[in-house]
Amino acid sequence: MAGRKIAVVGLGGIGGVAAACLSLSPENDVTACARRPIETLTFDHENDRTHIPLRTLIEPHHAEPVDWVILCTKAQDSASAAPWLANLCTPETTVAVLQNGIGHQERVAPFANGAAVLPAIVYYNGERLAHDHVRLRHIRGHDLLVPQGPLAERFAALFKGTPIDVGSSEQFVTYQWRKLLINVIANPITALTRQRLGIFHRKDIQDLSLAILKEAVAVGRAEGADLNENEAETIMALFLNYPPEAGTSMYFDCLAGRPLEIEALNGAVVEAARRHGIAVPLNLTMLTLLKAVSDANAGN
Ligand SMILES: NC(=O)c1ccc[n+]([C@@H]2O[C@H](COP(=O)([O-])OP(=O)(O)OC[C@H]3O[C@@H](n4cnc5c(N)ncnc54)[C@H](OP(=O)(O)O)[C@@H]3O)[C@@H](O)[C@H]2O)c1
Repeated sequence: MAGRKIAVVGLGGIGGVAAACLSLSPENDVTACARRPIETLTFDHENDRTHIPLRTLIEPHHAEPVDWVILCTKAQDSASAAPWLANLCTPETTVAVLQNGIGHQERVAPFANGAAVLPAIVYYNGERLAHDHVRLRHIRGHDLLVPQGPLAERFAALFKGTPIDVGSSEQFVTYQWRKLLINVIANPITALTRQRLGIFHRKDIQDLSLAILKEAVAVGRAEGADLNENEAETIMALFLNYPPEAGTSMYFDCLAGRPLEIEALNGAVVEAARRHGIAVPLNLTMLTLLKAVSDANAGN
């Protein structure tokens, strides 16, 4: 009988892969909390395809307290997951938040019933091929990174023996900002231009991106991230090696007319900049334009 009760909230690309991998460990008792039921999750990884039976709940009032919640909604949907968290969480629960951006603790703790909140940086690519079919691709290094400490060890143990590799770091804030720096150019620029990463081979887009990055680097340093003087140029160079045909989640959400995760990305830079009295006009421009797109997509 599996010992650790785990609920995965949000069964998209990231949550689907997390639920599939966690289900592969006999020590985990996994329940998925989604908006529509599935009985079997098809999981593609490298050359293998596995069909994994999965208990799914679609009504928050059917949920019971668990040891771990793995929260995998987009950042802007965290508040809509509050009814799930209210039923799943007690002060003994830990909520691991697998979302882009920063400020996971502030975003989720108000809904978590006194549970501990563990932020996680997601490095793997999780693609939802159908509502019951996901694919895991490893990008590089660890698949998930969490701050070093006792919770990190317990979190890593959940994925032991599964394809997901969990790392931990004392430099978590720095890694969080490095990931955010990629997202503050990749997502808004592909969404606004409705073009994939090949758009970054244009000189004018590179100049704009560098200026957005330099603003964000200054804010990250003020927030305590150990970012280099030439961090913006390093990120830009790294970026030009990405496949030009790849899209971003904001690009796909924009094309599909869905709300956008802009508040958690450029919005987080603008918010932190305000705290430190740093001017970030380009990040504010990205935020303003894409908030308007997102609101229109949400029907507001
Ligand atoms: N995908 C990647 O490769 C990747 C990589 C790095 C980081 N990330 C980050 O990881 C996070 C998750 O991304 P994702 O790509 O997995 O997003 P996604 O595919 O859009 O999945 C989000 C899921 O959350 C569900 N959801 C939203 N509100 C809910 C609620 N109240 N109750 C239950 N389910 C709810 C959605 O349900 P519906 O299907 O019903 O809308 C959807 O299935 C984001 O912060 C993203 O930026 C993603």
